[in-house]
Amino acid sequence: MRLYKAGNYNEMSRMAANIISAQVIIKPASVLGLATGGTPLGTYKQLIEWYKKGDIDFSEVTSINLDEYIGLSNAHRQSYHYFMHENFFNHININPNNIHLPDGTANDLEKACIDYDALINDTGGIDLQLLGIGTDGHIGFNEPGPAFEPTTHVVSLTESTIKSNTRFFSSEENVPKKAITVGIRTIMQAKKILLIVNGNNKADILKEALYGCITPALPASILQLHPDFTVIGDEEAFSKL
Ligand code: GLP
Repeated sequence: MRLYKAGNYNEMSRMAANIISAQVIIKPASVLGLATGGTPLGTYKQLIEWYKKGDIDFSEVTSINLDEYIGLSNAHRQSYHYFMHENFFNHININPNNIHLPDGTANDLEKACIDYDALINDTGGIDLQLLGIGTDGHIGFNEPGPAFEPTTHVVSLTESTIKSNTRFFSSEENVPKKAITVGIRTIMQAKKILLIVNGNNKADILKEALYGCITPALPASILQLHPDFTVIGDEEAFSKL
């Protein structure tokens, strides 16, 4: 486990973008595991800036997103499809055929989960997985529970996640209660994992995740076992370490 402390959110974002761009420069056909939420926004912004300057080429990259709400159309402003296109894909030269997110609108969700795992397998696996962490310790939408779920699955979001994500919706009732997420095995099989964390509200859970017991009650704790795991946080997030 490698920890890098950044002074603030912008510095954290720039450091994360540096690692992602190095990955793409070294292996242009990289498979990037991508995350949503407020945390990676600055990282995507920085990558877009470097792309526009001509410093990175995403034309051979494949992206695999972690998760998607169930029941929101791709055009819904709070869907992760929309988020990723609006905040990243629309601004870079990634091939649209190489963009993948779970299908939260599928009639047969079980099949959609199996298909997503097969697709990830077909890409040859994720080279670099970017992660944020939820205040309850979730990664992707792998919520605290009795066991680590290995594969892509449907999940009921916890009260705490619904509350945290209410800030993006007009009211708590409008936050979807279910989502599709890749499983813990898929995340752990990524060759490299990059966790980014900012803000005081993540300080306790980050400490618990990195130095506490490895338990499905805190899904991010399993990252301690990954052989190539990097954490970049701002001063506030690292304040309890
Ligand atoms: C969301 C996403 C996660 C994300 C987390 C933290 O619900 N499913 O992938 O890492 O919650 O979000 P934020 O970065 O906004 O704190």
